[in-house]
Amino acid sequence: MSETSFTPRVFSGIQPSGNLHLGNYLGALKRFVDWQDRDVESIFCMVDLHAITVWQDPVDLKKSTRELCAGFIASGLDPEKSILINQSQVPEHAQLAWVFNCIARMGWMQRMTQFKDKAGKNAQNASLGLFAYPALMAADILTYHATHVPVGEDQKQHLELTRDIATKFNHDYGIDFFPVPEPVIEGAATRVMSLRDGSKKMSKSDPSDASRINLTDDADTIAKKIRKAKTDPEALPSEADGLEGRPEARNLINIYAAMNNQSVDEVLADVGGKQFSEFKPMLAELAVSKMSPITTEMARLMEHQDEIDKILSRGSERARAITAPILRKTYEIMGMVPPIEM
Ligand code: AMP
Ligand code: TRP
Repeated sequence: MSETSFTPRVFSGIQPSGNLHLGNYLGALKRFVDWQDRDVESIFCMVDLHAITVWQDPVDLKKSTRELCAGFIASGLDPEKSILINQSQVPEHAQLAWVFNCIARMGWMQRMTQFKDKAGKNAQNASLGLFAYPALMAADILTYHATHVPVGEDQKQHLELTRDIATKFNHDYGIDFFPVPEPVIEGAATRVMSLRDGSKKMSKSDPSDASRINLTDDADTIAKKIRKAKTDPEALPSEADGLEGRPEARNLINIYAAMNNQSVDEVLADVGGKQFSEFKPMLAELAVSKMSPITTEMARLMEHQDEIDKILSRGSERARAITAPILRKTYEIMGMVPPIEM
């Protein structure tokens, strides 16, 4: 089927599971804003139904969902331009997920490495939802007929599955109904690494708070964490080849490049030959200037939860104008008897 016959539309989601950090910002939020600014219709989702595939404390889930929404807006997503939604408020996600549970094959699901990682040795005790997670993700995307999905490297396999589901549905019903969406994995910061260990991903679950810059950190904390970041004793190279085997140096340069909208080569052309004692204050200054407006706005929004809740309600209303007709059509294609107007 042709992948170009659908109007370009962007969809992506993040789990509201707390502790938004610089990796989420550079790897996801900032890239979402770039899409929005390209004037492509875009939908960004707090995937609370995905979060509950593992136990969530109800009070924390509510707080994390609002905090994520605040993070989206503070990062530059404009709720008038983009559609911002909380997944559970748009019922078509879960409804289409059921349909896709019936399209996806057990064998496909069993190959998902994220399930194997998350379920660990105790797969028998994992929730059925954790196993079905990627079918819900396919529904998130396809209930909007989205064509482009900005994600991190780790979601590539789930996107492949989404493509397989769309293709099988179209084939089984002999109709070009769902687009086969493209993953978009790009930018200098698709993997921001820990500030304490350049071989580990910056992660919300790292026990060391110094390993990450949180979107709730104030300016002093941001600067301090960068000053203390692990480095090596060499001066910075003038070309990217010189970062080989120097994961911490590479990470700090990648962060600088992504924050300053530059390529790694451009940054190295400027800072090559400098010692970390000179480079770190430059990075700290850049990080504070880029991040503290975001952290400040996030904190302000968190004081006005009613504003956040209104934005999400309005978002789901706009979303349903897209998703309800697509679900209706899906049911019609499959032979469900529709309700009649009375
Ligand atoms: P997570 O926090 O793992 O649920 O991820 C939410 C989003 O942020 C996904 O799009 C991830 O790919 C992205 N992300 C998470 N950690 C990093 C990181 N260290 N570097 C780059 N992107 C990340
Ligand atoms: N699984 C994604 C993650 O953990 C989150 C997600 C859910 C998502 N639904 C999506 C991402 C749809 C892109 C599109 O990061």
